[in-house]
Amino acid sequence: MYRRPLISVAPMMDWTDRHERYLLRLIATKILLYTEMIHVGAVLHGERDRHLAYSPEEHPLAIQLGGADPSQLAQCAAIVEEWGFFEINLNVGCPSDRVQHGQFGACLMAQPARVAECVARMQDTVNIPISVKCRTGLDNDEGIDRLFTLVTHLHQVGCDKLIVHARHAWLNGLSPKQNRQIPPLNYQLVYEIKRLFPMMHVTLNGGIQNHKQIQQVLPKVDGVMVGRAAYQQPFLLQEVDNLYYGRGVSSKSRVEVLDSYLDYVLVQQQQFGVPLSAMVRHLFHFFHGVPGAKAWRRYLSDNLPRGNASVATLREAAKSICIEDGRCPTNSHQEGHSCQLNHSLPSSP
Ligand SMILES: Cc1cc2nc3c(=O)[nH]c(=O)nc-3n(C[C@H](O)[C@H](O)[C@H](O)COP(=O)(O)O)c2cc1C
Repeated sequence: MYRRPLISVAPMMDWTDRHERYLLRLIATKILLYTEMIHVGAVLHGERDRHLAYSPEEHPLAIQLGGADPSQLAQCAAIVEEWGFFEINLNVGCPSDRVQHGQFGACLMAQPARVAECVARMQDTVNIPISVKCRTGLDNDEGIDRLFTLVTHLHQVGCDKLIVHARHAWLNGLSPKQNRQIPPLNYQLVYEIKRLFPMMHVTLNGGIQNHKQIQQVLPKVDGVMVGRAAYQQPFLLQEVDNLYYGRGVSSKSRVEVLDSYLDYVLVQQQQFGVPLSAMVRHLFHFFHGVPGAKAWRRYLSDNLPRGNASVATLREAAKSICIEDGRCPTNSHQEGHSCQLNHSLPSSP
């Protein structure tokens, strides 16, 4: 079912919304994308369009659900399958207080039979794959026992895809952000799970920053999921098609990606009334590592909140960022134009 290796971008609340996913898809055509976590209540009782709508270009796209009630999850699974998602992932890794209060997310690591029941009910209801994203353990757990027990339960119900954020979740005293930084990474536990369950498709997540790391990890697991680095350095993904999915896939240049994204932004704004800032906020890191990145971020910070930016001024501003072979990131420059590094960006109207 899954191609190996499988490179994916992690579900990230408030970050991997549909606009960010559209942007990432322009950069990497094969990577598997995930939605932010969507609570079962939002799917069953909320505005479905707001929570579930996406552009067909985002595919392959998986949805992550948060919940712990097998019958609610089964109902949700039926709904989201109709919306055309490629995979359903159950969140068994979020340690936030709000999520713990709702008794789902990471605290489900202590209820393996319940997780397996949730997965089994969804599997019985739909034909798309059901995966689980979990942590390596909870709090002061030592060794692999808790993860092993969870995976044993999952394996028994025929679940064959697991994503492991290679850190324990500490359920008390840490914010979600600290829970992504302070508990130490332990890739060995993930490798050990793959060794013990060779038939399971195991994806490692946590702390991946570059292709060297991906290449070190991949021989030992089936996939790698990249989170913060994909958001903060999106062009890290530019090499993914060629490196992991075979040659011949021509990746877009930064120039072309920005142009296409701004075309998308214009359509979303004009046809659907999406606020510019909701889409352009994802461009803060667009020029990461490129001369002029700081000036670009400053331009966005100065102009987006005041409503001074438009697609046209953004195209103008981007012309001032000198990138890739001295070319400007829009197609509107005349042949032979060469940007000056760090020259000033257009001032607000
Ligand atoms: C802003 C933010 C929001 C996140 N939201 C979710 C979420 O909704 N569901 C989830 O399973 N993990 C969530 N995570 C955790 C990531 O999916 C990932 O497991 C974690 O960041 C570790 O991967 P990384 O080191 O590559 O970033 C979030 C992470 C960040 C930074």
